[in-house]
Amino acid sequence: MSEKYFIVTYGCQMNVHESEKIAGILRRMGYEETPNMETADIIVFNTCCIRENAENHAFGNIGALKKMKKQNPALIIAVGGCMTQEQGKTEVLKKKFPFIDIMFGALNFEDLEFLILRKKREKKRVIAIRETEGEIVENIEPYRTSYPNAWVNITYGCNNFCTYCIVPYVRGRERSRKPENIVAEVEKLVAEGYKEITLLGQNVNSYGSDGSTEVTFAQLLDKIASIEGKFRLRFMTSHPKDFTEDVVAVMEKHRKICRLVHLPVQSGSSKILKEMNRRYTREKYLEEIRTLKTRLPEAEVTTDIIVGFPGETEEDYLQTESLVREVDFASAFTFVYSPRKGTKAAEMPNAVPESVQKDRIMRLVELVNSLTRAKSEKYLGKTVEILCEDYDSKKGLYMGRDEFGRMGYFTSEENRIGQFVSLKITKANGISLFGEIENTHGERK
Ligand code: SAH
Ligand code: SF4
Ligand code: F3S
Repeated sequence: MSEKYFIVTYGCQMNVHESEKIAGILRRMGYEETPNMETADIIVFNTCCIRENAENHAFGNIGALKKMKKQNPALIIAVGGCMTQEQGKTEVLKKKFPFIDIMFGALNFEDLEFLILRKKREKKRVIAIRETEGEIVENIEPYRTSYPNAWVNITYGCNNFCTYCIVPYVRGRERSRKPENIVAEVEKLVAEGYKEITLLGQNVNSYGSDGSTEVTFAQLLDKIASIEGKFRLRFMTSHPKDFTEDVVAVMEKHRKICRLVHLPVQSGSSKILKEMNRRYTREKYLEEIRTLKTRLPEAEVTTDIIVGFPGETEEDYLQTESLVREVDFASAFTFVYSPRKGTKAAEMPNAVPESVQKDRIMRLVELVNSLTRAKSEKYLGKTVEILCEDYDSKKGLYMGRDEFGRMGYFTSEENRIGQFVSLKITKANGISLFGEIENTHGERK
């Protein structure tokens, strides 16, 4: 009987996709997936350190394994991802959790096979965190679990050094994959029946800026959208400092590209944006939104916002509120600023008191939710195209999303996963839509 693996993932889509690659490595070694952690022979934690609570989560869950490891000493516990890459964190993890068998970094998860074999051979703890970024590894076949969606990396790392953010420290400098490798991967995925491709990078717009290719992000997007077959194309994350009109032009050219741009604004105050080293102003951001919506009136924008950054006054916060209203975001991820050791902002004076941060996040969440709800109501009576992703057994309904990421639920006698469904919306409930099928198109995998 083959050995079993269980992977616990924290953090962003990039990490979720990296876990698919880790699963690919484990399967290549002969491991099989188990849905039940208790029956695993190896448990891998793929961690995140973007905010303190992401770290606390991982700490709690790793700590809870002490007992399991005692009962089953043969169990291998491996911890990797962004957190182990953080300065000084490996030491903390080593001391706090002596039962961890393997520690690897976000910059060398590709070494996992070798590290497991070493652990089995040497019977002692293996700690191998790579300090600097290496060559891009292309030969790992991810084990994808998100059909009909597929994630595809276009860049790794980040050069932007926003003053609050730890990513450039733990993920290294920005590196771009070769365009031919990306195009080949998407061609294969489309041929295999994947219906939604999401291109991933911390700042997709700066694709190629490491000098490894002449191809710009807009040209790459054009090449990928020209691949034949019915599929949706998404990309994230766009950085407002680099979001250029040529990208909008390619969106206009190809209907396959979803009319949804994730364009994190972070703050509506130019003063705070400067302190954050975002390298755009409130006015420039709003100008970009105007250009996008003039060229593509149906386009929607989603965003990320941080409240309670050092020095943020009530006036600055109200500017964020007014920007949120003006742009009328389809949705927004909202965060309370979390100081990260080693970043510039962690050293800044004028910390915002926790009670003020809490008050601002509550007001902002309320505002964002009211905009999202209002947008839901506009869907009533309309017919939208949903890509069916899953069956929700609790609700007894199929679930999918429209091109703007809005969730739609419906009943069906047949399995619809992987099909595009035209749904007439009969009910809008907060952020979810409910409807009846008018017709389906596109065959399943
Ligand atoms: N590369 C992307 C996303 C990076 S992380 C970008 O530039 O937008 C995702 C989001 O986490 C960020 O957009 C930001 O809103 C939030 N974030 C990052 N560091 C944070 C911190 N220290 N405290 C609170 N939120 C943070
Ligand atoms: Fe962090 Fe800024 Fe890079 Fe995004 S662009 S990953 S927020 S440093
Ligand atoms: Fe992602 Fe968290 Fe790392 S957001 S890049 S997993 S720090």
